Amino acid sequence: MLQAGLIHVLAWALVLGLAFAARQIELDLSWGMWALLQGLLAGGFSYFFALPAWWLVINPLFFPVLAQAQQWELAPHWYLAGLVALLLTQLGAVRSRVPLYLSSQRAKTELLRLLPADSGLRFLDVGSGIGGLLAFLAKNRPGLVLDGIESAPGLWLLSRLRLGARASIALGDLWNVDLSRYDVVYAFLSPEPMARLWQKAKREMPPGSLFVSNTFEVPGVKPDASIELHDLHRGRLLLWRMT
Ligand SMILES: C[S@@+](CC[C@H](N)C(=O)[O-])C[C@H]1O[C@@H](n2cnc3c(N)ncnc32)[C@H](O)[C@@H]1O
Repeated sequence: MLQAGLIHVLAWALVLGLAFAARQIELDLSWGMWALLQGLLAGGFSYFFALPAWWLVINPLFFPVLAQAQQWELAPHWYLAGLVALLLTQLGAVRSRVPLYLSSQRAKTELLRLLPADSGLRFLDVGSGIGGLLAFLAKNRPGLVLDGIESAPGLWLLSRLRLGARASIALGDLWNVDLSRYDVVYAFLSPEPMARLWQKAKREMPPGSLFVSNTFEVPGVKPDASIELHDLHRGRLLLWRMT
């Protein structure tokens, strides 16, 4: 998040420099054009500094969209509606610094490949988002018992509507879920909660069960195996067999 913010500062600094130079040659560009240029620079820097894939979308669009919205002279209630939608879908990000982004198709396929074929295997997605991973597993491995926990009400509602009885998704905080009931716990969160989540998994998950983190490492704890995904997130599945 901090890196993404700094990229905007850097992009604006360059744009201000260019705007100053443009004034010298009496080149007059609109605020929208400067915002577009800032977006291009911010997108380029995001790619150069290898920010996660979602920043490659958010950073180039942020200021150009803002400039465009000003042109449309939207009524204030649209901004309020936007804020409410943001809160309903990104509450997890506000509370625990874990935003919404989705497991890639590669991550889902690899995860499916490594799940034992046992019917009745209990699987939990901590921070289940819009339920895409659970929907994929429900379709491709119908024997699994699938649970999710999601803290953002809008995402929880979407996933409930999407999955119906095929998975049980609770609205709440992952820190309150008892992990001892699960054979596999999957997390695609952020670096922030990983140390604490690992302590919880170690305390609660039964011996022989599997803890999987998409991309984010547990500081100082080597995984038992790692699978490169070659996806947009440049992700890996990191696997720990609990003892
Ligand atoms: C990166 S998304 C992953 C979505 C989904 N698991 C997937 O792989 O496609 C992380 C999700 O975790 C949710 N989240 C963040 N903190 C949480 C918490 N403390 N308890 C429950 N969910 C949380 C966020 O709202 C977000 O939807």
